[in-house]
Amino acid sequence: MKATMPMSCEPEGELVMRTVAMPKDTNFNGDIFGGWLLSQMDLGGAVAARRLSKSRIVTVAIDAMRFRNPVKVGDTVCCYAKLERVGQTSMTLKLMAWVNAGGVSDERCCVTEALFTYVAIDEQGNKIPVFRADNPRPESLV
Ligand SMILES: CC(C)(COP(=O)(O)OP(=O)(O)OC[C@H]1O[C@@H](n2cnc3c(N)ncnc32)[C@H](O)[C@@H]1OP(=O)(O)O)[C@@H](O)C(=O)NCCC(=O)NCCS
Repeated sequence: MKATMPMSCEPEGELVMRTVAMPKDTNFNGDIFGGWLLSQMDLGGAVAARRLSKSRIVTVAIDAMRFRNPVKVGDTVCCYAKLERVGQTSMTLKLMAWVNAGGVSDERCCVTEALFTYVAIDEQGNKIPVFRADNPRPESLV
């Protein structure tokens, strides 16, 4: 069965990453490589997950990613993160990538979105609770 998410008309969540697609990020066809975009989204999600857990984190899963529109060299790429769920040691965020064509257009379009799950870890790489004595659960999430 195909995993799909309903398409949003507007970015959801917080802007966590903004960058420009460069010629070095292209694939053999001269288009922007999907793996580059995925890594930008992973970095953006990591920014949000680290801030929430106040710890090191690792990506444990990426679900339901679909590339809807191409990214071109020179496009401004914006990644938005919205917290979907916090478990004991994991955090799932919806990441969305939007582009402004050529970096000058006022119009933006959604390129892709996916669910990224991160796990909070200690210095040895062992999982730890997201919320703990030195990082209490914020009141907004209670
Ligand atoms: C992430 C890691 C520390 C988890 O350790 P583990 O002992 O296997 O932990 P668990 O199986 O109990 O999973 C930990 C949490 O991740 C969640 N999880 C595991 N697999 C998942 C999946 N496919 N989708 C969503 N969540 C998942 C579990 O539900 C659990 O969440 P919870 O504590 O909030 O309930 C370990 O698997 C690891 O180090 N993986 C490599 C991560 C990495 O290097 N990523 C970068 C790849 S280049």
